[in-house]
Amino acid sequence: MQAVDRTQFAPLKNDLMLRAARGEDVERPPCWIMRQAGRYLPEYHDVKGGRDFFETCRDAEIASEITLQPVRRYAGLLDAAIIFSDILVIPQAMGMRVEMLEGKGPHFPEPLRTTEQLMKVLEYEVDVLRELDWAFRAITLTRQKLAGDVPLFGFCGGPWTLLVYMTEGGGSRLFRFAKEWIHKRPELAHKLLQKITDVAIEFLAQQVVAGCQILQVFESWGGELSPADFDEFSLPYLKQIAAAVPARLRELGITEDVPMTVFAKGSWYALDKLCDAGYNTVSLDWLWDPAEAVRINNGRVTLQGNLDPTVMYGSDETITKKTEAMIKGFGGGKKQYIVNFGHGTHPFMDPEKIRHFLEECHRIGKM
Ligand code: CP3
Repeated sequence: MQAVDRTQFAPLKNDLMLRAARGEDVERPPCWIMRQAGRYLPEYHDVKGGRDFFETCRDAEIASEITLQPVRRYAGLLDAAIIFSDILVIPQAMGMRVEMLEGKGPHFPEPLRTTEQLMKVLEYEVDVLRELDWAFRAITLTRQKLAGDVPLFGFCGGPWTLLVYMTEGGGSRLFRFAKEWIHKRPELAHKLLQKITDVAIEFLAQQVVAGCQILQVFESWGGELSPADFDEFSLPYLKQIAAAVPARLRELGITEDVPMTVFAKGSWYALDKLCDAGYNTVSLDWLWDPAEAVRINNGRVTLQGNLDPTVMYGSDETITKKTEAMIKGFGGGKKQYIVNFGHGTHPFMDPEKIRHFLEECHRIGKM
C-alpha cells in the first residue's frame, strides 16, 4: 500500500468528539453508537446482499458505503463514524481462518487447542501492512467520502478477547478452552497475548496513518475474568497498547494527538485502574450507575456510554426518561462525556427508535 498523504483530507467540520475525548468543554455531548452500522439498518442488507461478511469488509467501496450509512441516515445527529470491519481481522492477519456464519456468528475451523497450534501462531511472522492493506484502503476511502463531516474511529479487539475467540473458536458460554490456557499454561497464554498486543499496536497506528482520527479497543470479554486475572491477563496489555500507539505514531511522523478509548465490558471492578491505564476515554457498559462511575473517575478521563441498548425496545417516553437520567448522571454532558450505548445495537432494533434516542441526546445535552 502506498503511503497516505494525510494533507489530502478535508478539514474536520465537527470536532466535538475529539474535543470531548480530550476532556475539553463542549456545547453538548457528542454521540455515536457501538455497531451503528449493521443489520438493524435495511440499507445495510441492500448493500451487503448475499455477500460474505468479511468479503464486504475487504471491499473498500462497500465497507465505506456501509460505514457512511448511519452517518447519512442520522445526518447531524451522529458525531463520528466507525470503520466497518471486525475485531477478528487480527486473528486473520495472524494466519488463522475465521468465517462468519450467517445468523450464528464467528467460527474458527481450527481454534488453538494444542501447544503445537499455539506455537505455529507465535512463530507466524505478521506483516500488518500487507495482511490488512484492505482495511487501510477502506479507511482512506471512507475518510475521503466523509469530507470532514465527522471524525472516523479505528478500532481493534483487546488481546484477552481475541485470545478467547482464537482458543474457543467462536462465541462461548463456558470459556473452557480460554480458561484452560490461562490457568494451565499461563506462560504460553502470556506469549499469545503479547503477540496479539504487538499486532494490535501496529494495526491501530497504521489505521491512523490511513486516516482514522480516534481509536477504540474492545475488550468485550473482560468481564469473564476475575479482578486478579484481569490484572494479569488483560490490563497490562491494554496499558501497553495505550502507551505504544502514540509512540509508534510519532515514529511514523504523525504529530497530532489521537484520542484513545478502552471498553472492557463487564469489568466493573477495574474502572479505577482503567482510568489510569493511559486512555483518554473509558467506555462503560450499562451495569454502571453513571453517577457512581463519575465519582470513581474523579475527573481523570472522559467517560463514554452507557445506555442499555434494549431500552430501544421501549416506548419513546421510556427512551426519553432513561436517556435523560443517563446524561444527568454523567453530569449533564458538557464535560468529559460521550454518549453511547453500553454495548452494540441488535439486528431487531427499529432505526426510528434510535433516531429518537439521538434527538433526545441533542436536546437534553444542550440544556
Ligand atoms: O458500526 C460498527 O460498529 C461496525 C463495525 C463493527 C462490527 N463488529 C461489525 C459486525 C465493530 C466495531 C465490531 C466489533 C466487534 N466484533 C466486537 C466488539 C464489540 C462488541 O460487540 O463487543 C466483537 C466482540 C466482534 C465479534 C463479532 N463479529 C461477533 C460476536 C459477531 C456475530 C454476532 C453479531 O452481533 O452479529 C460479529 C459479526 C459482525 N460484526 C456483524 C457486523 C455488522 C454482523 C455480520 C452480518 O452481517 O451477519
